[in-house]
Amino acid sequence: SAAEKGGYDHFMLKEIHEQPKAISDTLTGRISEDGTKVVFDEVQWPAGFASEIDRIHILACGTSWHAGMVGKHAIEKLTRIPVDCEIASEYRYRDPIVSKNTLMVVITQSGETADTLAALRQAKEQGTRILAITNVVGSSAAREADDVIFTWAGPEISVASTKAYTTQLTALYLFAGWLAQERGSVGAAEVPALLTDLRDMPAKAETVLETSPAIETFAKQWSSREHAFFIGRGLDYAVSMEGSLKLKEISYMHAEAYAAGELKHGTLALIVEDIPVIALVTQDDLYEKTVSNIQEVKARDAFVLALAWSGDTEIGKTADQVIHIPRVNPFLAPIIAVIPLQLLAYYASVARGNDVDNPRNLAKSVTVE
Ligand code: AGP
Repeated sequence: SAAEKGGYDHFMLKEIHEQPKAISDTLTGRISEDGTKVVFDEVQWPAGFASEIDRIHILACGTSWHAGMVGKHAIEKLTRIPVDCEIASEYRYRDPIVSKNTLMVVITQSGETADTLAALRQAKEQGTRILAITNVVGSSAAREADDVIFTWAGPEISVASTKAYTTQLTALYLFAGWLAQERGSVGAAEVPALLTDLRDMPAKAETVLETSPAIETFAKQWSSREHAFFIGRGLDYAVSMEGSLKLKEISYMHAEAYAAGELKHGTLALIVEDIPVIALVTQDDLYEKTVSNIQEVKARDAFVLALAWSGDTEIGKTADQVIHIPRVNPFLAPIIAVIPLQLLAYYASVARGNDVDNPRNLAKSVTVE
């Protein structure tokens, strides 16, 4: 009913707008009073385990897997532990290499995804310690994992996942910081500043929501197309994958996410006049490289919508249109960079007259293998 949707036309739009509060709820109680330490009382590892971990396997499906890709970056950067992030339905069938010093992290909004649970159960048989990052208290993943970090996003009704993703990211950044502090990793020195930045994210997310009208206009203009591309490097590539999935899932447009540097290895053949290319440019150390990839697609007459920091006056010289988002630490960019992409998928789906909250062929929680 309309009341359940809090005045929004769809649950998805309501959930997109709930993100500032959801991110804030994920942070609540997990930062020490002096603001310098991550607190995870819910993670009760055997003494010494934090220092003994020598590899981490992140398993998930869909949007949760995309969150895991960002988690891999974050954990490796802060702890220097090698992290593999894999689709659960692949991992479980390939005889993965694990030891007693492997930590498995499963990410699942619902806690009921069949393939993710199967990977969890397989790891359990092998004696691997399992941490679940989930949104649903009492879910199978929450009950069966050794330790659980709840995302506290509140119920997510729309099939397209939005606030679950941004809260998973928040939980993963916290976890990466916590693990660095527990192990005394070199990266631990960066954690206090990171926590200051994280506490700022709800306000930044609120500001990003103000891009809605511009995104809606763009979506209306381009929603009759059949193809779109998302490009980026590093963390921008991880977010591109999520933007592309979201657009496919609810607008039914064909979209592909490409690591910007990989375009010339095949995909450029598909870039022709007026193909929409959404380019993410939030990673300062990769800025010039990404701009040169934008030039490559512009040379084929693509239409480029760039997602860049406020204050970036350069990017408009290369891109056709720019959506500016408030500057944050680029390491945390995924939390806010995804929001315009969620809105793009939403407004494209509405423009195409689709059933936004219940896209064809899909279920909210995939409980079959
Ligand atoms: C996201 O928009 C999708 N509906 C889907 O990819 C989802 O993230 C996936 O099925 C995993 O679900 P889970 O997080 O509940 O395990």
